[in-house]
Amino acid sequence: MTDALLSAKGLRVHYHTRRGPVRAVDAVSFDLLPGESLGIVGETGCGKSTLGKAILGLLPPRTKVEGSLRFRGQELVRLAPAAFRRLRGEELALIFQDPMTRLDPLMTIREHFVETLRAHDRKLSEDAAADRAAKVLRSMGIPETRLEHYPHEFSGGMRQRIMIAMAVVLRPKLLVADEPTTSLDVIVEAQILEILEALRRSYGMSLLLITHNLGVVAEVCDRVGVMYAGKLVEIGPIADVFRRPIHPYTQGLLASTIHMGTTELRSIDGMPPSLLAPPPACRFHPRCTFARDVCRAEEPEKVEFRPGHVAACHFGRDFL
Ligand SMILES: Nc1ncnc2c1ncn2[C@@H]1O[C@H](COP(=O)(O)OP(=O)(O)OP(=O)(O)O)[C@@H](O)[C@H]1O
Ligand code: SF4
Ligand SMILES: [Mg+2]
Repeated sequence: MTDALLSAKGLRVHYHTRRGPVRAVDAVSFDLLPGESLGIVGETGCGKSTLGKAILGLLPPRTKVEGSLRFRGQELVRLAPAAFRRLRGEELALIFQDPMTRLDPLMTIREHFVETLRAHDRKLSEDAAADRAAKVLRSMGIPETRLEHYPHEFSGGMRQRIMIAMAVVLRPKLLVADEPTTSLDVIVEAQILEILEALRRSYGMSLLLITHNLGVVAEVCDRVGVMYAGKLVEIGPIADVFRRPIHPYTQGLLASTIHMGTTELRSIDGMPPSLLAPPPACRFHPRCTFARDVCRAEEPEKVEFRPGHVAACHFGRDFL
């Protein structure tokens, strides 16, 4: 697809460690269309945040990145740090789980916004910057009088809204949200998800939402990608993947989610492997109840089993 906003092809991210390379993202391919929201799910350590960091150019210096990652046609693999800095904020934005780590306790919210906006437009006056900030905050139900307050004067949910406001004030084309609601209670979580959805609609922004919570993905996303041990093992439209999962790992994730609205993933028997030395062939074979010899000998290819619904399992047809 040529009209993708973001297109990953055979993307590999290997962290450099003293014990050898950690293959956190391995041969991952997918497209994200303008205005679309894609959820990325999987157990801990499967490479979700690494994928997010690769898109934003936030990987540690000695990390090896290979393959292709195109954003609006521009190759991000080996893009210079200065060019990445320009893209972040203006075109790509990020929100994390814990907003406190990104807010300076000694600066008011107004000062945060002025700094963010003027880093990208030196000519913007302080008042004009504050006006833009007030407008975005109002759209999220935060009165502009709160611009003069400091981060610690807000609740966790309010701080997360402020982080979102700061992320979108420059009208990015793509927002990467890594566990944005994990530390929040269910009611606040629902409000934050509503805000993300409303922003996506009003700004035509694309969203890459990384989460453990399948309920969150079901609520907000058009499509979902499932990562296991650095591989994207299944991707497809939400309803199709949730109702008729193909990959045994996806089946396991869904089966272990007791109540979709609120419960986090419970793990399938065993743990995801160390990515220093992942299992050969199908990386899921040590935990898969359907594994046969071929699973231990050959890596399964990605096959489009239904329109737009792709999975990598030797026996995918058996699960159709
Ligand atoms: N800076 C780093 N150096 C070396 N290894 C790393 C580094 N960051 C992450 N890893 C390893 O890469 C793998 C993928 O980690 P990542 O944080 O992307 O997983 P995740 O799916 O986001 O997990 P979680 O759900 O816990 O956030 C893990 O094995 C992790 O230990
Ligand atoms: S390829 Fe084999 S081991 Fe891997 S998920 Fe499919 S059945 Fe299980
Ligand atoms: Mg993570």
